[in-house]
Amino acid sequence: MSGATLAFDVYGTLIDTHGIVELLETMVGGKADAFSREWRRTQLEYSFRRGLMRRYETFAVCTAQALDRTCAVYGTPLDDEQKRRLLSAYRKLPAFGEVKDALRDLKASGFRIFAFSNGTADAVEELLSSAGIGDCFLGVVSVDELRSFKPDPAVYLHFLQRTGAEAGACWLVSGNPFDVVGALFSGMRAAWVDRSGEAPFDSWGVEPDVVVRGLAGLGDRISVRAGDS
Ligand code: LAC
Repeated sequence: MSGATLAFDVYGTLIDTHGIVELLETMVGGKADAFSREWRRTQLEYSFRRGLMRRYETFAVCTAQALDRTCAVYGTPLDDEQKRRLLSAYRKLPAFGEVKDALRDLKASGFRIFAFSNGTADAVEELLSSAGIGDCFLGVVSVDELRSFKPDPAVYLHFLQRTGAEAGACWLVSGNPFDVVGALFSGMRAAWVDRSGEAPFDSWGVEPDVVVRGLAGLGDRISVRAGDS
């Protein structure tokens, strides 16, 4: 099977946003794991709010402002140099272990593979290339081109227009339930990557077409609707 377009979410799907915990431990000790989760949660909340309020700033700004807020929440003031080191490490977060081989398999099977992210194209390209997977993609589609954020329906339609994909033959692959719901409501198909195997999904009356624990073997789980290719 080939010809289907895959829109890979980046942060939390290909790239491990908690790959920063080791560095955080040197700064906030035993709070590192919880700190990292709160930082990520706040980063996404800020993107949602900025999208709704039409107060766009890049995802990197959301990340930096969320770091400041998380320091306040945990009562762990970090100095400018520590924040600079964290934000610089965030631009080179690692990919999950199976990602590189899985992407190569999907590419060899003929899937059209794009990165589709809240991050700016520059930030995503730097991230993918430092994780050693930059050559797996036909391109990067960033919400920055619309100055909005997922799950604004406009960004999913923008992805389809930019890549020339038909919604029924275009799969979002994402570890983020809000992203999966956003794609399904835009007529795309969706694979939810639930790495824990026990994360709750949203009760919004739509379900992912496929649920996987990781990206290995994903191509065998993906099909296109009759008539689409
Ligand atoms: C992304 C967000 C959802 O990469 O983390 O688009």
